Amino acid sequence: MQISLTGIKPTGTPHLGNYLGAIRPALELTERFESIYFIADYHAFTATHDPKALCSHVYDVAATWLACGLDPERTIFFRQSDVPEVFELSWIFQCLLPAGQLERGHAYKDALARGDSPNAGVLAYPALMAADIILYGAHVVPVGRDQKQHLELARDVAVRVNHLFGEGTVVVPEPRIQSEVMVPGLDGRKMSKSYDNYVPLFAGERELKQAVMKIVTGSEPLEAPKEPEGTTAFTLFQLVASAEQAAEQAAKLRAGGYGWGHLKQALAQALDAELGPQRARYSALRSDEAALDQVLARGAEKARARAQETIMRVRRRIGIRKPG
Ligand code: TRP
Repeated sequence: MQISLTGIKPTGTPHLGNYLGAIRPALELTERFESIYFIADYHAFTATHDPKALCSHVYDVAATWLACGLDPERTIFFRQSDVPEVFELSWIFQCLLPAGQLERGHAYKDALARGDSPNAGVLAYPALMAADIILYGAHVVPVGRDQKQHLELARDVAVRVNHLFGEGTVVVPEPRIQSEVMVPGLDGRKMSKSYDNYVPLFAGERELKQAVMKIVTGSEPLEAPKEPEGTTAFTLFQLVASAEQAAEQAAKLRAGGYGWGHLKQALAQALDAELGPQRARYSALRSDEAALDQVLARGAEKARARAQETIMRVRRRIGIRKPG
């Protein structure tokens, strides 16, 4: 079976946009692929030097994915930092990649353009990411469009390794750019922490409702017929409710006598139905860090066994060890 792999950067409790755009589709892939999903804690360390926040965000993310349905018996789920072989492979890749290719990385270039002085980790970030992917022999990597350049670099380095050291040294990964579901935030722009326009994933019913009521809508009078297509509230509704429910809301809005407030009410209910069970599981999971550690440690054991196979093969092929 082909392997689907992705890394999750621990940057705080995920919001509805992360759930609809990344978590839900990645979990769907676990039905058709062997899946390896990990928490990219050392990628987060390029940007966060707050030990408490970093540590707690790892648990937030672990509890979120488990609450949303990740089954650790089926998906190998672990912390990146628990498999030290990845740093060795990352070093190997840094020695094979032209420095200029890393210097052309979007994140690094953008930081320079902003006048920041990015650390060397920001520059090496894509090499570590390539190591994440190639260490486990991933075939497909579900990511957002923003990660496309990183995936291309991972492919380049895999092709180069096989060319220099023999076909079959590593698996060449395929990017799988998630069909960008643009999840709009409360103000209509893309839902994002940085715009502070997000719906929290595990808010209580009341908090959820309050967030939904803030969604910006048209100001037509109640009687007026309304066009739902393309509006923030309706797009969100379509993402969480069934097609039939969406058609029903659309018909009511178009008929007139039905307000945006009614749609928001329906949206709040649909969100609660979709996320209520996860919310309960999340609180239970998040409150037991020792249990989360155990789940992640078991995942790391499985991941490490695979990592060691790859790293031994690579060491032999590149001359760090005698050919075995
Ligand atoms: N860079 C990815 C992000 O910011 C996270 C990540 C790290 C990743 N390693 C990965 C994604 C390997 C896919 C595969 O979202």
